[in-house]
Parts: sequence; structure tokens; C-alpha cells
Amino acid sequence: MTNSRTRVAAMKAAVWAACLVPLVWSVWRFVRGEASVDPVEEWLHRSGKTAVIILVASLAVTPLRRLTGWNTAQKFRRLLGLFAFFYAALHLGVYLYFDQGLAWSFILEDVTERPFIVSGTVAFLLLVPLAVTSTRGWIKRLGKNWVRLHRVVYVAMAAALLHYTWGQKADIRDPLIVGAIVAVLFGVRLSYWARKRAKR
Ligand code: HEM
Repeated sequence: MTNSRTRVAAMKAAVWAACLVPLVWSVWRFVRGEASVDPVEEWLHRSGKTAVIILVASLAVTPLRRLTGWNTAQKFRRLLGLFAFFYAALHLGVYLYFDQGLAWSFILEDVTERPFIVSGTVAFLLLVPLAVTSTRGWIKRLGKNWVRLHRVVYVAMAAALLHYTWGQKADIRDPLIVGAIVAVLFGVRLSYWARKRAKR
């Protein structure tokens, strides 16, 4: 029992460390003056990509658990989801403060008129209630509705992927690869839902 708790604690520490690498790396490059000529763009791109990658990792937890029977994986889902939200919030903060200089009229125009920014905003707004309700208290309070609400993560992921694709100048291979991975994960979950319904 103690052994397995220690193992889970060590694995959680490893997940924390891995998730903090992009942030520490960006700060390190900035402090040492090694950031690119356009540090704002560098921060925007790194935080956006990191948010997407960690979000995909959080979506992979349940399919991984179902396919392998490794139930401990479930213990990392919330942590990964919150880190994805943290990087998405950082990404938005960099955009609002450094990229747009808090010029609200320009921001409002961007957020309502550029499909690329609209899709990012939708993704972010959908992630907010998921992050807020990720605590034990909310899980208890919402009961079965919590599971229903958290399925919205797939819609947020789709909006983030659209944003990622639209944001590319020409080469859309990366978002396509991420999209294919998400489709496989979604397919695995769908097949389990279908089997469960058929049993009922
Ligand atoms: C209000 C919300 C958001 C705004 C205003 C926003 C804005 C931006 C901007 C300005 C860029 C840089 C485009 C460029 O320089 O070519 C960008 C890129 C990106 N964003 Fe967002 N974004 C938002 C939400 C999100 C969310 C929620 C995610 C992920 C979960 C995300 C993921 C990305 C990715 C992956 C990129 C491309 C990075 C790359 O090409 O290296 N964004 N976003």
C-alpha cells in the first residue's frame, strides 16, 4: 500500500517536472538573452503548442486505462488537464498583454472577426468551466452531470485544433498529426460507449 502510494507520488512529481519543462525552458532562454528576435512570438507558439500537447495527453488517459487495464493512469488526468489550462491561460495572457498591449478595441475586433482567434477563444472559454469544476467538491456536487460536462473537452480540443490549423502559414502537417491522434483517442472512447450501451 505504502509502496504503491510512494510510486504514485513519484510519478506525479515526474508529471509535474515534465509539464514545467516548457515554462522553465522559456524563462531560461529569456533570462540568458537566448530567446528569438521575437520573444513574444516564441512564447505564444511554445505556450500554445504545449497547451495542445498536454490536452491530448489528458485525453489519452482514459483510453490508455481501458486498453491496458492500468487504472493508476486515472490519477494523472486532473493534473494534466489543469496544466493544459495553465498553458492556455499563459498563452492568452501573452497575447493580451505582450502581443496586443491590452488594446481592448483591437482585441475585441480580433476576438469577434478573425476566425483563427474566434476558435482559440471558444477553446479557451470551454476549458474554463472544466478547470473550475475539476476539484473533488465539484465532482461530488455535480455527480453524473460532471462526466457529461467534462465530455465538452472534446469540443474544446476540436476548437483548439481548428485554431492551430488556421494559425499555420502554410504547413499544416503538425495540426493534422495531432488531429489524427485525437481522432484515434475519440474512436477508442466511442467504441467503449457503444459497447456499454449495447450491454444495457
Ligand atoms: C482567447 C484565446 C486565444 C487567443 C487569443 C490565441 C491567440 C494565438 C495567437 C496570436 C497565436 C500566434 C499565431 C502566429 O503567430 O502565427 C496562437 C497560436 C497558437 N495557439 Fe492560440 N490563442 C488562444 C487560445 C488557444 C488555446 C485554448 C490553445 C490550445 C489549447 C491554443 C493553441 C495554439 C497553438 C497550438 C498555436 C500555434 C503554435 C505554433 O504554430 O507554433 N490557443 N494563438
